[in-house]
Amino acid sequence: MAVSALFENPAVAKVLPAAVRQNVERWADHVNVLLAVRNPAVIQQMAPSAVRGLFLRQGRRDEPTRMRASHEAHFDWSYKSDFPELQALYQKAKRMQWNAATDIDWKQNVEPLSPENPLLPHDFLAWDHLRGLGVRLTPAEEQKYLYLALSWMLSQFLHGEQGALLASAQVTESVPFTDGKFYGATQVMDEARHIEVFHRYLETKLNKRYQVNDNLFTIIDSLMHDGRWDMKFLGMQIMVEGLALGAFSMLYKVTREPLLRQALRRVIHDEARHVNYGVLALRDLYTRQLSERERIEREDWAFEVAVLMRDRFLVHELYEEEFEGRISRRQWNAFIDVCPGMSMFRTTMFSRLVPNLREIGLLTDRVLPHYERVGLGRFMHGRSTLGMEGDDYVDDRAA
Ligand SMILES: [Fe+2]
Ligand SMILES: [Fe+2]
Repeated sequence: MAVSALFENPAVAKVLPAAVRQNVERWADHVNVLLAVRNPAVIQQMAPSAVRGLFLRQGRRDEPTRMRASHEAHFDWSYKSDFPELQALYQKAKRMQWNAATDIDWKQNVEPLSPENPLLPHDFLAWDHLRGLGVRLTPAEEQKYLYLALSWMLSQFLHGEQGALLASAQVTESVPFTDGKFYGATQVMDEARHIEVFHRYLETKLNKRYQVNDNLFTIIDSLMHDGRWDMKFLGMQIMVEGLALGAFSMLYKVTREPLLRQALRRVIHDEARHVNYGVLALRDLYTRQLSERERIEREDWAFEVAVLMRDRFLVHELYEEEFEGRISRRQWNAFIDVCPGMSMFRTTMFSRLVPNLREIGLLTDRVLPHYERVGLGRFMHGRSTLGMEGDDYVDDRAA
């Protein structure tokens, strides 16, 4: 039984004041996150970040967060260029730089609540499910919640981009080959530009910004603290960037808002390179250089984080703002789980992420049954992102 179910028991609910019950529900939900992770080594590794992110909610304080980084900076005085694929990616990244201030038509007006160019399609959220929980909404209210859901998504993109900016800077310091440092420097620039884009869109077009999601904070915190360059790579370049690329390309396909489509198109072209960087850099290391014990640790970590990413981006910031007290957190989680937009997002994300894990050697026979158990095995034979260009993700014929 989910822990939070206990607090929906009418006898228990009656004796708790609403604020206490809501806090208990939130904590119980976080405990369920930890219970969902089956591998003790992964729990041990993630636990300090989970305490800071889920329980202390350090990302929710209106003050800067300081995280102690512990990676080694790696200097290469030989400046040897011996990774031709990364050298080619570096040259391409230089050619494809763009200016977020002038290459996007910021003069375009955005009307978030207008049905003319809807930010999200109406069936993105599962309205019938919500009605079944006793929440009856007018068409105008439904429009408002689509706007808030999009604001939530773009806010998490913004915070994720900040994580990517700092992680790519760290990786640029610690990656042990010169071509990787050169390429990494272009990614740092890309990520700064992406922050500029999402921040500007949220501030000047949507006039709404949500705080960082506790689970996203936890993943970023864990990657910042991990001193191993390849774990930062795996976490940021493969998992988080893979998630971002899936989310961006899904949103590009469904939104009809022209300025957002223009911005996403630009960002997706950059992100396609970032994910390729991760696959190229890790493939050789994981398939040829790591010991079996080291590889197993990464296999288990990647699997658990993949499941957390699938199950835990539950739009709780919107719930707390608009629905807490009307329905329970557990009911909200079930609602988000059945929303067509969320299931499209999960499919888009895993159809690339799982083949990428295969490509870098982390989908071995040992771990594959775990993916099958949680329904992710069906993506095993899909195409990895290696060699895919930005245009492959924004093909309007597939829209
Ligand atoms: Fe980015
Ligand atoms: Fe990126």
